[in-house]
Amino acid sequence: MSASASDVRWLAVADVPELERAACRRIIDAATRAFAQRGEFVIVLAGGNTPRGVYRLLRERDADWQRWNVYFGDERCLPADDAERNSKMAATEWLDHVPIPKDQVHPIPAELGASAAALAYAETLRSVGEFDLVLLGLGEDAHTASLFPNNEWGSGPGASDALAVFDAPQPLPQRVSLSAARLSRSREVLFLVAGESKRLAVARWRAEENIPARAIRPLSGVDVLLESKLISKAAA
Ligand code: 6PG
Repeated sequence: MSASASDVRWLAVADVPELERAACRRIIDAATRAFAQRGEFVIVLAGGNTPRGVYRLLRERDADWQRWNVYFGDERCLPADDAERNSKMAATEWLDHVPIPKDQVHPIPAELGASAAALAYAETLRSVGEFDLVLLGLGEDAHTASLFPNNEWGSGPGASDALAVFDAPQPLPQRVSLSAARLSRSREVLFLVAGESKRLAVARWRAEENIPARAIRPLSGVDVLLESKLISKAAA
């Protein structure tokens, strides 16, 4: 039976090291499929801390890096080299250590400010078709990328590909995020969720509350790779 956009597949693993190994395998497998079908691989990276260990594992892989194209799901409006930038984290943990051609890594120019950066990145994405794989995290408040509960998520068909975010309820209020609609235009979407602090957000998701993470609805459904303790009945 084919998957549907509302499908969420919960892939529970024992612990964070296993989550990181499983995510690394998934990414390499998606790249292999993309190479076979289209000769290149287009991936959208998640920010935050959960993906750090996955990116470090990718650094060690012997992949056909020349055929990788890297985009970002969201970015904080900080100077390009700021340690709090998602693009800086990915570079430090992984991208600076592998020979992906520099013009195939596309940071969001968030140093321009949210409005200008969103317009610029939407223009960049005009020449990009369906992504092969989108990686996403989940915030404690069930946000994903920089789509927050009380903000615009860009779910509709007419939504811009990139949204300017000004009042993110986090230490960094100004951000740029791909819209829910654009994040959903992907052959695969893989959420990476770890940490006791995500238990409530996972429970809200599984209770089918209207949270930003549920606005990500690719035709193939989404996979959520998470620590098994987050879906066990036992309280923390
Ligand atoms: C960001 C991320 C954000 C992140 C979640 C989870 O810019 O902060 O894009 O959506 O994925 O907040 O973050 P952790 O992985 O650090 O828990």
